[in-house]
Amino acid sequence: MPQQSTEILAATAGGIARAAQLLQAGQLVSFPTETVYGLGADARQGKAVAAIYEAKGRPSFNPLIAHVHSAEAARRHVEWNDVAEQLAEAFWPGPLTLVLPLREGHGISPLVTAGLETLGVRVPAHPAAQALLRELDGPVAAPSANPSGKISPTTAAHVKAGLDGRIAAILDDGACGVGLESTIIGLAGPEPVLLRPGGLAAEKIEAVLGRKLAERDVHDPLTAPGQLLSHYAPGAPVRLNADAPGEGELYLGFGPGPCDLNLSEHGDLAEAASNLFGHLHQLDALGKPIAVAPVPEHGLGEAINDRLRRAAAPRD
Ligand code: TXA
Ligand code: MG
Repeated sequence: MPQQSTEILAATAGGIARAAQLLQAGQLVSFPTETVYGLGADARQGKAVAAIYEAKGRPSFNPLIAHVHSAEAARRHVEWNDVAEQLAEAFWPGPLTLVLPLREGHGISPLVTAGLETLGVRVPAHPAAQALLRELDGPVAAPSANPSGKISPTTAAHVKAGLDGRIAAILDDGACGVGLESTIIGLAGPEPVLLRPGGLAAEKIEAVLGRKLAERDVHDPLTAPGQLLSHYAPGAPVRLNADAPGEGELYLGFGPGPCDLNLSEHGDLAEAASNLFGHLHQLDALGKPIAVAPVPEHGLGEAINDRLRRAAAPRD
């Protein structure tokens, strides 16, 4: 694709206005959210959405999440229901995506939904994302702002390293706080389904709903489109649940003890989540195999282990 010069915009009123103007003009703008940096396009403009796939080098059309500034704005595009209301009330704005049936007159490009009759919607909490969405007052389709299959970006520098020259602008507002993509809950079927573990622990959602979330059916492509196994992958091999590094391996630690980088010395899962992708980026740059300490499976550990398993999965 043709090279362009990528503008770096500060999260000031001027920077936000410029970012909104570029989106409106059908350009791609990377923006910070509390989870990871997104690669945004106006979700109503098919050509702009198509450019996301081109910039990322995504092999196929996966459904994208539409970002909006409020639950009220979400209801312009999807059929709302009581469970959606309950979860939006408890967790929006925040790292939660709800998949709901598209409503009539939704205005969303079919490239966003990959032709499905449902839409993933999310209201991000990050102040710069909020300001941008309010300025545009329209839905922004945004996957994570990394080349397809690579580690997700949690700083503007990560975005620049992966996509410089391929997108119009990067709205830079420092590092993302949560560090893991949003938790995705499917609400289009008979019961709420955990489609992707993420930055909001499933237990917290279950506590609000007063019941267990159903597991997604791995054999049903509709409940898990785009969940490619190898993903978030560093260049070098990754080995999980390693109590110590082997010969020539870098060691990504969790909890006290010697290591090259530590996800959280105190064994804090929220801290580990926010460090995960940044640490993988740093170790990846050294070009050696990476061994990773065991991380417990509860709370945010479920999403951390999900991303680690993808990073370690065989590549094709
Ligand atoms: O935190 C996040 O969610 C970040 C930031 C930028 O908001 N975005 C993100 O987008 O992680 P992406 O494209 O990497 O992941 C979107 C995933 C798809 O791969 C798919 O699994 C699921 O969301 N998804 C989206 N729409 C769906 C739908 N209608 N039905 C089922 N799954 C859907
Ligand atoms: Mg992604």
